[in-house]
Amino acid sequence: MEDLLYQIFSDIPRQGPGSRFSTLQAARLITDVPEEPVILDLGCGTGAQTLVVASHFGGKVYAVDNFKPYLQILELNAIKFGLNETIVCRPGDMFNLDFPENYFDIIWAEGSVYILGFANGLKSLKPHLKTGGYVAATEISWLREDIPDDLAAFWEIEYPDMKTLASNLKTVAASGYQLVDYFALPPTAWWDEFYTPLEKRLVKLRQQFDDDDEALELIELTQLEIDLYRKYPDYYSYIFYILRKN
Ligand SMILES: C[S@@+](CC[C@H](N)C(=O)[O-])C[C@H]1O[C@@H](n2cnc3c(N)ncnc32)[C@H](O)[C@@H]1O
Repeated sequence: MEDLLYQIFSDIPRQGPGSRFSTLQAARLITDVPEEPVILDLGCGTGAQTLVVASHFGGKVYAVDNFKPYLQILELNAIKFGLNETIVCRPGDMFNLDFPENYFDIIWAEGSVYILGFANGLKSLKPHLKTGGYVAATEISWLREDIPDDLAAFWEIEYPDMKTLASNLKTVAASGYQLVDYFALPPTAWWDEFYTPLEKRLVKLRQQFDDDDEALELIELTQLEIDLYRKYPDYYSYIFYILRKN
């Protein structure tokens, strides 16, 4: 299954919705950091956002993921773009981060804080942040309350902990962070670097795995996720939350 996941996601620009434009939009909201900030990119995947963050801020960017093949792709790209002095790839588990307390000026988490759970993630990452340090995280969030049944049924299984934007803003306040700003990723950030290349990939993988029921199940689940976003783009989005530790 790990091999299939790699085949689905490694060959596309990102492993979740996002774009260079949105990463930069979030980065520009972070204004009060040292000349050479220490940054954690949590669940960096193949590192599309790591490259943008590293070239925007400089300093040191520790790119952490528990899937080493993704880090190998990022390592090659860091060299290609002359960012290998800035980006340090570290295989690691976000549930057990091997970094000191009060260490980071910024923790970046695009499409990855859900793994810890939004509330739990904000809590568990906080000790690693310096006071005044920032979190920039995307989290899939409901934008409306009247969720259609088929959409609710899908996400009830895939991410039962998905909350409304309003509820996540309450969690931010309750977790001891100041809200700097937030914005929803536009549909182009879902399609251009994620769902469009992913959907093309699924066409090929359906042929490649046509005798593997388990693989086909995952492929069709991924297709359903894409189809539901196509049908209901106004009901939910990834929200980029930019927060500051009090
Ligand atoms: C949805 S992807 C997002 C990747 C990337 N940030 C992006 O936006 O394209 C989530 C990433 O988290 C990584 N991951 C999953 N569980 C993890 C864990 N326990 N510790 C560290 N990384 C993890 C996955 O390997 C994957 O690369």
